[in-house]
Amino acid sequence: MNTKIYFIIGVSGVGKSTIGKHLSKKLKLPFFDGDDFHSKKNIQKMSDGLPLNDEDRLEWLQSLNELAKKNSKEESCIIVCSALKNKYRQMLSKNIENQVKWIFLKGNYKQIKERMDQRENHFMDSQLLKSQFDILEIPKNAIHIDVHLTPAEIVNTLEKELLLKSEFGVFGLGVMGKSLSRNLASNGIKLSLYNRHIENEEENIASTFKNLHEELSSAMAFDDVSLFVNSLQKPKAIMLMVNAGKTIDAVIESLLPFLSKGDVLIDGGNSNYKKTNARMQYLNQKGIAFIGAGISGGEEGALKGPAIMPGGNREAYEMVLPFLETIAAKDKNKLPCCTYMGKDGSGHFVKMIHNGIEYVEMQLLAEIYVLFKSLGKNPDEIAEIFESWKETTNSYLLEITIDILRKKEGEDWLLDKIMDKAGNKGTGNWATITTAELGVPSTMIASALFARYTSFYKEERCLASKNIRSNINESIALTVDDLLRAYQFGRIINHCQGFKLIQEASTHYDWNLNLSELARIWTNGCIIKSDLMNELVTIFKSTNHLLSTEHITNTLKELKPAIKKVVSVGIIHELSLPCLTESISFSNSFSTENSSANLIQAQRDYFGAHTYQRTDDKSNTSHHTDWSSKK
Ligand code: 6PG
Repeated sequence: MNTKIYFIIGVSGVGKSTIGKHLSKKLKLPFFDGDDFHSKKNIQKMSDGLPLNDEDRLEWLQSLNELAKKNSKEESCIIVCSALKNKYRQMLSKNIENQVKWIFLKGNYKQIKERMDQRENHFMDSQLLKSQFDILEIPKNAIHIDVHLTPAEIVNTLEKELLLKSEFGVFGLGVMGKSLSRNLASNGIKLSLYNRHIENEEENIASTFKNLHEELSSAMAFDDVSLFVNSLQKPKAIMLMVNAGKTIDAVIESLLPFLSKGDVLIDGGNSNYKKTNARMQYLNQKGIAFIGAGISGGEEGALKGPAIMPGGNREAYEMVLPFLETIAAKDKNKLPCCTYMGKDGSGHFVKMIHNGIEYVEMQLLAEIYVLFKSLGKNPDEIAEIFESWKETTNSYLLEITIDILRKKEGEDWLLDKIMDKAGNKGTGNWATITTAELGVPSTMIASALFARYTSFYKEERCLASKNIRSNINESIALTVDDLLRAYQFGRIINHCQGFKLIQEASTHYDWNLNLSELARIWTNGCIIKSDLMNELVTIFKSTNHLLSTEHITNTLKELKPAIKKVVSVGIIHELSLPCLTESISFSNSFSTENSSANLIQAQRDYFGAHTYQRTDDKSNTSHHTDWSSKK
């Protein structure tokens, strides 16, 4: 995986072959000249002074991609090729994106024309040069070398850049930063690692960490920002793995003096998407690209393959794609669980909703656990039942819940000793604010969040349990199958609501998010991966509206008797089931043809003259009534 394919690119006459040959001697790597792979037809066309078009180049680019792929499995090599357009470079690096390094030789038209005019015995006439400059799309993800330098100077610069510098930087070595670094290094990516130095608190974190893991042997460790940034190849790509919030802004400011136009920063934390939008604008003004990447999977996911949701400028994403897609988890078709989301802070937005869905999935399991407890089941018995649910309703969260239920400390279940106050780090809160802001009824996220908040009032709950709770002696008449079906119902509504919120935000912000792709990258690596998510990948290929999909509505109908029974019995027994209750309540509201909102409208018009529309007037006219009049 350490094998690299160095493509030296640029317009004809820029000196690619000369530099390529020199570099190949210096680095002792095989050298291939792209010109040698042109068909006779192409050579004839160029000799006739005619520029090649996309179609002419297709076969040539494919053969160079084959050459690169073959070498990528064996040894590093140098290939020179004009590769003037982004799409040509995509073809050249297809399936080996993470092993390709672009070196762009940069010169202006006048300079190169003079060189070409002096050149003999070459099929490319200087007249064709103009056509090359016309189609040239300057590569942003390449090392740029000015050709006014001598070949020796160019080769020396490249040698230093390629051999002595790292490809990717990780800033911040907390739990997630460390795991991602090990993942990157295991995939053959040469890394620079940075962690701040705080006297007596955080000292030599990066070097100690590097020395602990064999895969980090070629990584460079720093606690000095300038040395860290200068150790990176251009354009510099740095992943920030620090706490969301003000820390990110402080870190950006500390890095800015050492960054240049074209460098990319990736915020891999759980940042608020609105803050990401603002940071993106701020940095873009300075020519620095900023990617807001949601990363899910916790410590283990980060190490073995997380789901990654990057948003921002697409070109900037393409620059870091090889790194992110390499370390991401892979779906069942071996495709990376990482794909470009959309512009602005859309990557952090979808991660925030991922967490909202996560909160609900956790809460639903917690409510089912409470129901089983009231049925007299102990944690091992509940785990056994959950184990049997894996066949039809598996998810990562179900699996970890089984482990949790089975964990013992001596004779006791550890779960019974955990204080029932649920914490949170803010994403569920933002998701709830967002659903309210966008006017979308993703009510289960709010219910799950407020369930956590309610849990925090432990002392008051204890008191209220004495004062308010009734003494119910009846036994609970629910079956395991009732609970499974109620759980399945709740999960479907949760996913309908979560994706609905994403789809509405996508329209609102013009992000053009692809829900099927999003579901696909959530089928592995992340906390909400599940069998249901796999089904959604297919469903979202034909619709964005889950609640009007026949398969979904039929399933909900089938599960409805169970959720109604479970929630009713639960309420009679005074159990706290906010998410299960909300799922059926929402389903009832959403499937009511003539709702009670007519009365709300009348009340609004009564006290505030807010007007209303009439069902017997199709003209959209606003009506107002003088409600106090007795007539
Ligand atoms: C993930 C998780 C992860 C973390 C969040 C939520 O996808 O890997 O969502 O980001 O668990 O911080 O944490 P809280 O429950 O503390 O809000």
